[in-house]
Amino acid sequence: MFDSLPVLPPDSILGLAAACRADPNPDKVDLTVGVYMDETGLCPVFEAVQQAQQALVSEEQTKVYMPPQGDPDYLTGVRSLIFGEAGMAALGDRTSAVQTPGGCGAVRLGAEVLHAAAPGATVWVSDPTWPVHIPLMGSVGLQFKTYRYYSPEMKGLDFEAMLADLEAAQAGDVVLLHGCCHNPSGVDPTLEQWGVLAELMSERQLLPMIDFAYQGMGAGLDEDAAGIRAVLERVPEMIIAVSSSKNIGLYRERAGAVVFVGGDARAAEAMASQAVSAARRVYSMPPAHGALLAGRVLSSPALRSAWEAELGQICQRINDLRGQLRDALTTATERDFGFIGTEHGMFSFLGLSVEQAQRLREEQSVYMLDSSRINIAGLNANNLGRVVEAVASVL
Ligand SMILES: Cc1ncc(COP(=O)(O)O)c(C=O)c1O
Repeated sequence: MFDSLPVLPPDSILGLAAACRADPNPDKVDLTVGVYMDETGLCPVFEAVQQAQQALVSEEQTKVYMPPQGDPDYLTGVRSLIFGEAGMAALGDRTSAVQTPGGCGAVRLGAEVLHAAAPGATVWVSDPTWPVHIPLMGSVGLQFKTYRYYSPEMKGLDFEAMLADLEAAQAGDVVLLHGCCHNPSGVDPTLEQWGVLAELMSERQLLPMIDFAYQGMGAGLDEDAAGIRAVLERVPEMIIAVSSSKNIGLYRERAGAVVFVGGDARAAEAMASQAVSAARRVYSMPPAHGALLAGRVLSSPALRSAWEAELGQICQRINDLRGQLRDALTTATERDFGFIGTEHGMFSFLGLSVEQAQRLREEQSVYMLDSSRINIAGLNANNLGRVVEAVASVL
């Protein structure tokens, strides 16, 4: 049966990371995959997570299945982060949530619920968006249209073009937005622009679906949720895909949640029930370990404040690196790299051509995507100078 089955190439981003791992150059720099790395190049385990893990290991009495909806502490915790305590109280029972294997699982189950409610729905995605959105949601059967978003000429958000494209959306269409730290550009709408988008989605009866994979890594936990909260003031329904991979550092544990806001309690319950049913068709119950750790961190006041402090330091380090890279590139090239300092989160397009990005990999062992998207958190005091010199040499 499988004799002529084609062997598929690796995912393009993961393939580049593998090429970097195989590169024997001791001075190679990996700026490909969106993983936070500290000054030593390590993707660390949060101290608060380590403490939660020690307690979990010593107290855990069973490995019986999780409830299909997931760990209640985790689901309450992620919603408190998105909506804030006041927002949670205001929403009351109009919100529900289902734990998923990472943010990918959340995007997928969100798409399943959209498809169950409106099988012909069109999803508007930013140009560019995180490439995995397309297979994750498209394989459910949803159609896509793109709205202009990042402008290479402006080195920022072309908001006029974004609005002009979304003006063509029909009632019932879905707008996929990145809640913060847009992947791949690092460019987010301002709070004022979020308000305009909310108004447009409300007037045109468009449904916001928010991919929220980087809360707390852009400007702060509340600051990064401000766009979502502004939309919720005007729009009655929403789907939010949460990942705990980055901001709680649980990448390999596969912890995430799809969060629903319905017009009333019945709608919120229906959305969650559809997500649980979709999970049952594919993998049944969610994985336990990561969500139990995150549930403990988010529900214990001491662990939560320790985690918030640690996340705040990570956010600060990313923003410091942005400033250092901006200044060093501007000095080395006499070009304007000011945009790096105004973006959010781990990503930025350096504005190189595909050929320049390839030369950097082949000739200098500096690995970035062909689009010249870099992971800012892959920089550190040891490699920043080398990266800047390499980029200047191909410009
Ligand atoms: C924009 C975006 N959404 C969702 C995810 C999903 O993350 P995970 O499934 O690893 O939690 C990622 C991961 O890189 C991402 O960049």
